[in-house]
Amino acid sequence: MRLNNATAVYFSPTGNSKKCALSAAGVIGRNIEEIDLTKADSLPDGMSFDINDFIVFSAPVYGGRLYKGFAEKLTRLNGNLAKCIGIVTYGNRDYDDALLEMKNILIDREFIPLGFGAVVGRHTYGQIQTQRPDNNDLEICRTLSKEVLNKIEKGIFTIPDVKGNFPYKDGGNGGSFYPQTNSKCKMCGLCVKNCPQNAISHEDFKTIDSEKCISCFRCIRICPFGAKVMETKEYVDFAKMFSEKLSMPKEDEIFI
Ligand SMILES: Cc1cc2nc3c(=O)[nH]c(=O)nc-3n(C[C@H](O)[C@H](O)[C@H](O)COP(=O)(O)O)c2cc1C
Ligand code: SF4
Ligand code: SF4
Repeated sequence: MRLNNATAVYFSPTGNSKKCALSAAGVIGRNIEEIDLTKADSLPDGMSFDINDFIVFSAPVYGGRLYKGFAEKLTRLNGNLAKCIGIVTYGNRDYDDALLEMKNILIDREFIPLGFGAVVGRHTYGQIQTQRPDNNDLEICRTLSKEVLNKIEKGIFTIPDVKGNFPYKDGGNGGSFYPQTNSKCKMCGLCVKNCPQNAISHEDFKTIDSEKCISCFRCIRICPFGAKVMETKEYVDFAKMFSEKLSMPKEDEIFI
């Protein structure tokens, strides 16, 4: 079957899931269309795909589940039997039920998911696997994609089993670490425009609404001046303990 260009659809506050999506989608060797669902209000209603489309979905694990805001965006897409791959990235703890949740939503929305990956990336918190996804991880994303394209070539449309349990564990929420803004802030507004939750005040870029913030740390990573920080004693103590606990690197997994 002749596939259309590949589309990478991702939610990726700190960039790990985006890297994996683009690596996997790049295997098709033509232009990649990107649908970045990270920013608030980033999904037009009623987006539909086509039976000849090839899509790579990629998103982080939050508390062993897909982040609720992303899961909700997925439920607004129409697959129309488009072939796809699902990837979750996780911070070296566990992905628990997130991949199964992604699989079930994709099937429900009439996509045909032919392969899945659970890939380790730098954890949002602490200093855990800070260089990942590295070249090896991205090569695993490409291998996953190649295997799926082989399946399509051979006319094999089986949907693989993945790890995970249903009912799903509780999760999918943000954390409760709300960044501070130090005196280096130049009021450039970059963090305001890029916050997935519209949680940073448009009037005063130093004020974060803790009711909206999901502690994704996107603002910390993208501030060019190092002005958004997480320096409370509670966080520093947690990050140290957490980094020690998760110091043993985990292996990526693929399901085809
Ligand atoms: C609120 C929150 C919850 C998280 N929960 C988990 C988890 O349950 N297991 C895990 O291994 N990593 C967890 N992480 C780490 C992310 O899944 C990981 O860093 C991911 O690769 C980030 O993807 P991104 O760079 O595309 O945003 C969590 C991160 C955040 C912010
Ligand atoms: S990106 Fe940094 S410098 Fe720019 S408004 Fe945000 S905190 Fe301030
Ligand atoms: S304010 Fe909160 S939700 Fe917005 S980018 Fe920063 S950590 Fe993420």
